[in-house]
Amino acid sequence: MKPVFVLLVTTAWTFTGAQYYYQGLMDYLENRLSAIEDRMQLWHEQSHRYHTEMLDFKKLTAEAMNGLRNEHSVLFKDLEGAAVRVDRMEREMDYVEAQTSPRACANKADKVVEQGAWGLESRGEEEQEEDWEELHSRVSDCVEIISGIRSVKILKRVGSPKGMWTRDPRSSKVYVFNETSGDSIYQFNSVRDFSRSPGVTSSRQIRLPSEWSGPGSAVYNSYLYYIQQTADMDMQVVKYDLLSGSVTDVAMFPVESQATVYSLNPETVADLAADDEGLWLLYANKQIWDTRCPRENAEAAFVVCGTVYVVYNTRLASRSRVQCLFDVNDMVISQEAPLIYFPRRYGAHASLKYNPEEKQLYGWDDGYQIIYRLTMKRKLLV
Ligand SMILES: *[C@@H]1O[C@H](CO)[C@@H](O)[C@H](O)[C@H]1NC(C)=O
Repeated sequence: MKPVFVLLVTTAWTFTGAQYYYQGLMDYLENRLSAIEDRMQLWHEQSHRYHTEMLDFKKLTAEAMNGLRNEHSVLFKDLEGAAVRVDRMEREMDYVEAQTSPRACANKADKVVEQGAWGLESRGEEEQEEDWEELHSRVSDCVEIISGIRSVKILKRVGSPKGMWTRDPRSSKVYVFNETSGDSIYQFNSVRDFSRSPGVTSSRQIRLPSEWSGPGSAVYNSYLYYIQQTADMDMQVVKYDLLSGSVTDVAMFPVESQATVYSLNPETVADLAADDEGLWLLYANKQIWDTRCPRENAEAAFVVCGTVYVVYNTRLASRSRVQCLFDVNDMVISQEAPLIYFPRRYGAHASLKYNPEEKQLYGWDDGYQIIYRLTMKRKLLV
């Protein structure tokens, strides 16, 4: 029996020792596990909290952004509305002003210029005649450059967004070219007649023997010069006698490409400009003119005293400005070249025609006929 007992005891001892050892190990592992579990729980809770906080934050910012966006669009709409209204007001005010008191504070010279503009019929008196002569001879010296735009007068609204109008410096008659091509024009006896006419009712309609292309015509001394262009033919300048109603001369100009003069007014095939020294033809040859003025973003140009002034704008019409000039006599040095901004208008100029005797520009802006009066200074002679 004894060995059995011993065995039993040994087994019991062994069992107790192992149990003791394993128990300790188990306890240890359990502690570690529960510590890890605790920590995991903590992390989990923390990350959950962060996540919730983040969601809240996201929601908050999204709401704030939405609110801001709404406010912004409301504000933007308001601003747009206001801008349109201001523009309209501005135009109406200009128009009303033009209709009521255009000569309130004009000096003597202005008055003469004005009378030129309003027709020769008021030039009967001796004294005014003298003033006119004096002014005229001063202009003819022709050593002047533009220094700025003195005033703007919105005269009328007649016709399409694009077109051209001009006044014959000699006969003082006004000619209206509606649209960008056609075979007829309107003639008014004076600027006053034109401004008082309901539409074009008081005009004489003149039908031409051929079609004019682009708002680039000129009228001088009862001769109309207009561009004629038919498909695959060179450009022609037609000289038409407005008194006898017949073509008196035709000049051909070779065109290398179909490039137009002003990129913003592609209808202007070529532009005729009259100034104190004669008749000029502005037309494009490929990309760059001899004037070195780019045609990109050019809208119109005019010639004053042998200096070409090129007017630029942007495709979405903003403020027109003279940004490049070229003096054929090389007398205007670049330092004295003025940066001239036109007063802010509604659209863009389809044409600008200079009248050397009045120092005025006849502009066609979105169907409005506008007169810009210019101020001059003497060229610095080098
Ligand atoms: C100008 O041209 C447009 C378009 O062809 C035409 O609707 C309008 O009646 C014309 N206006 C005048 C005054 O000829």
